[in-house]
Amino acid sequence: MRVLVVAASKHGSTAEIATALGEALARRGLSTTVADARDVADIEEYDAVVLGSAVYAGRWQKAARELAETHGEFLRSRPVWLFSSGPVGDPPKPEEDPVDVAQITTIVGSRGHRVFAGRLDKSRLSLAERAIVRSLKVPEGDWRNWDEIAAWAGEIADALAGGAAG
Ligand SMILES: Cc1cc2nc3c(=O)[nH]c(=O)nc-3n(C[C@H](O)[C@H](O)[C@H](O)COP(=O)(O)O)c2cc1C
Repeated sequence: MRVLVVAASKHGSTAEIATALGEALARRGLSTTVADARDVADIEEYDAVVLGSAVYAGRWQKAARELAETHGEFLRSRPVWLFSSGPVGDPPKPEEDPVDVAQITTIVGSRGHRVFAGRLDKSRLSLAERAIVRSLKVPEGDWRNWDEIAAWAGEIADALAGGAAG
């Protein structure tokens, strides 16, 4: 069982979630590759795919949306899980799902979608992004919950072991 964990990240925190998911799946004995959504060439090599994106202004990153659209037919033939990373603060906000996830779910036929809290590090942001977070009073910090992320990978490994690949 070869699993691809692929994510679109702008400032690195979602890429680190993808790496953590990949490590947790590998610990369960799955042959796992972690990739950037812009760099996926041979998606048809994989038996299952975990696709994620950072969320900006309510939307997934273009590279992740495009990957879902370009490979939608293939992805519908495989078990696929989706994740989004964005909400920040305590409690994490916003609470709404990214606006494009429903459509992407339809395109790829996913078996689940998880929203993970993200990280906001002002030192990494562009001037325009800093202005937005300042005006919206978005708090700075890292709210990623590594136990929750690893537990979700465990659920995926259980599903694959239980024959979800069928
Ligand atoms: C300008 C800006 C807009 C954002 N908009 C959203 C949003 O609409 N929804 C959300 O959940 N998170 C939003 N975020 C938070 C990011 O998604 C969060 O920081 C995420 O962890 C970034 O992932 P990355 O480091 O992989 O790019 C926004 C952050 C910035 C800087």
